[in-house]
Amino acid sequence: MPDIWADWLNRTRFNAATPEEAQAALAFIAGIRQRLLQATAPAPGQTVLELGCGTGEFLPALLDAVGPQGTVLALDISAELLEQARTSVRSHPLAERVRWLHADMVNLPLESLTVDAVVARSVLQYAQEALPSVIAGLARVLRPGGRMAAFELLHGDAEPLLPAPSSEQSDAALQRWRRLPFALRREALEAAFSPELFCPFELEAHSTTWRQAADPPAVQRTLLAAPRPGCPPLGEVYGAEVCGLLARSGTCVQERGAWCIVTATRGIHPIPDAHPA
Ligand SMILES: C[S@@+](CC[C@H](N)C(=O)[O-])C[C@H]1O[C@@H](n2cnc3c(N)ncnc32)[C@H](O)[C@@H]1O
Repeated sequence: MPDIWADWLNRTRFNAATPEEAQAALAFIAGIRQRLLQATAPAPGQTVLELGCGTGEFLPALLDAVGPQGTVLALDISAELLEQARTSVRSHPLAERVRWLHADMVNLPLESLTVDAVVARSVLQYAQEALPSVIAGLARVLRPGGRMAAFELLHGDAEPLLPAPSSEQSDAALQRWRRLPFALRREALEAAFSPELFCPFELEAHSTTWRQAADPPAVQRTLLAAPRPGCPPLGEVYGAEVCGLLARSGTCVQERGAWCIVTATRGIHPIPDAHPA
């Protein structure tokens, strides 16, 4: 079976981008990791969990933060990506302080109350209906006072490449795009981080609007790209009519991306059900 995660991170995610756009996206992501690190502030000797570590880009900074007495738990569902991450940190002086966890975030293979901080970049958004269980699992493994920080795309509010001005057809295409199986709504995140488990909890929402010149090669590239891991190319999601409108649109197209940074602290209350009476 193809590994949609490795495929996305290594091959398809920048299909629609020019090298400069890919560079800019990677620089943005590097800045986000820095923010997650500052928000969780893992200290020397602590244990930090990276949920969905992917190719392992965050691991060197996490290792530097926890030092030789600390532990970095690198968890991912993709065996291929974990192997890639392992190779990428091999030359780090603290590489042996990483514990590799090939697991689903829904079933964390960790003892309760053993983790000081959790970071995740673009991972919770893929939990879908399991989001409350994932957050409850994180609350179980975090020690009281443990910190969590995540960056997630709020797909429900995002608007991808569309003909401008919008039309009935483009509205219908947007509805199809929104039904793609990777959607995270702000309300779902807020509900999953219940105040009994995490307090304080903050969700900082952002929305970025880009305007692209609708030059045919750019439109063509974008339509050939998959909008999300495991999804068909955007052109297929939109359908022929909207693709035609896009190809003919001489003005500009818009793209609005909504994303958020979530920061939360594990409270002192036990997980409901964890200690049945
Ligand atoms: C968009 S990638 C982000 C990777 C990495 N956090 C980064 O910043 O580059 C999503 C990651 O989540 C992992 N993932 C997806 N579903 C998962 C699950 N149910 N359990 C654990 N990891 C998962 C994927 O394998 C992939 O590495």
